[in-house]
Amino acid sequence: MSAASSHHLLRNQIADIPISQLAAKVNTPFYVYDEQKIIERINDLKAFDVVRYAQKACSNLAILDICRRNGAVVDAVSTGEILRAEAVGFSASGDPSPIVYTADIFDLSSLELVLDRGIHTNCGSPDMLTQLGQKAPGRSITLRINPGFGHGHNQKTNTGGSQSKHGIWHSELTDCLRIAEKYNLRVTGLHMHIGSGTDLEHLAQVVTAMEQAAREVGSSLDTISAGGGLPIPYQTEESYVDLEAYFQLWDAARKRLESQFGHSLRLEIEPGRYLVAEAGFLVAEIRAIKKMDKNWFYLVDAGFNDLARPILYGSHHPMTIYRRSAEKTNGLREVIVGGPLCESGDIFTQKEGGFVCTRSLPEAQLGDLLIIECAGAYGAVMGSNYNSKPLAAELLVRDGQVFTIRERQTFAQMTAAEHIPD
Ligand SMILES: Cc1ncc(COP(=O)(O)O)c(C=O)c1O
Repeated sequence: MSAASSHHLLRNQIADIPISQLAAKVNTPFYVYDEQKIIERINDLKAFDVVRYAQKACSNLAILDICRRNGAVVDAVSTGEILRAEAVGFSASGDPSPIVYTADIFDLSSLELVLDRGIHTNCGSPDMLTQLGQKAPGRSITLRINPGFGHGHNQKTNTGGSQSKHGIWHSELTDCLRIAEKYNLRVTGLHMHIGSGTDLEHLAQVVTAMEQAAREVGSSLDTISAGGGLPIPYQTEESYVDLEAYFQLWDAARKRLESQFGHSLRLEIEPGRYLVAEAGFLVAEIRAIKKMDKNWFYLVDAGFNDLARPILYGSHHPMTIYRRSAEKTNGLREVIVGGPLCESGDIFTQKEGGFVCTRSLPEAQLGDLLIIECAGAYGAVMGSNYNSKPLAAELLVRDGQVFTIRERQTFAQMTAAEHIPD
């Protein structure tokens, strides 16, 4: 297992393909992903027995297909995500389960699909056990435990503790085991995921909580899952988690449990962000440059309908400018970067709480490109049609060739399900 060491900034090109060349082919805004980077990231985690991609981070079929072809399996949190996994050839059952449905509720369609296909379920509430047990007694299940603490890069991505809606509260485990017994459900997996974009200190606490819960469940377990949450550096002062140290913590716990249970245990990891964040770039064009009092604004043709992380979390994304204009300038400018939406929060340079900040970027001209980096995770998947903006195109660079993996949405597609009553 190699710990990722280099910082992510590819600056203006992916695998020798200048981003300007892509922009000549597809109208901005668009996403572009570097396949090689995703494969590298999957391979970083190969010490774990199973790398289960949390597809919520980026669920384009081509990205799922890359994961499948490189030995990862998938987590699905909705009917749509199960259908996506099936569409690229993951089968419903297998060992390890190629698709695991992880949620805190069954809506009607997901329950129907899970029952019909025999998909392994990671239950995040006691009610899920009852609903599954009533319809399909005898199944194997995983329990997602909320260990009573959580941590994320933002309060909104913290998925543990008593204010989080996720998982089965740790002290309810005994009751859940009783429900499982009532319906003859076999608890073969335990799972904990305390938040997205957390750190080693918090991730390490999960190991102890898992060991404790696993001893309570006992030897019916065949799998423990460390969940996701691995951070990536969005800013130069941030760093990766020491993957080797992280694996060793889990491996040691796994071995202690194995010697208690007298059989082997599978160790899963469930990353989303780590696999795809640095592989993705959002490319936009600067369409207006204006000065308002002391503030300079670069207004681009991508907005929070394309990348919501800044408005949702105050997230920082590295940005670079690709100059298409003939006129060269060398200066830097403190600028506010905004999008096209009729909404004052449509600003890419903002901090948590919506406080606008500036970024030092090169002096640019109209028509220059703004490349927003580390945008592969929780980027395109959170795209919306706000202001009737179409979903952006997505491109993939594979072996130096460019593939369109999602066409830009058309107006007809955007309005296809809408009807005017007679
Ligand atoms: C259950 C579960 N697993 C995995 C993940 C992936 O998290 P990350 O993208 O931080 O690895 C999430 C996201 O919050 C999640 O809810």
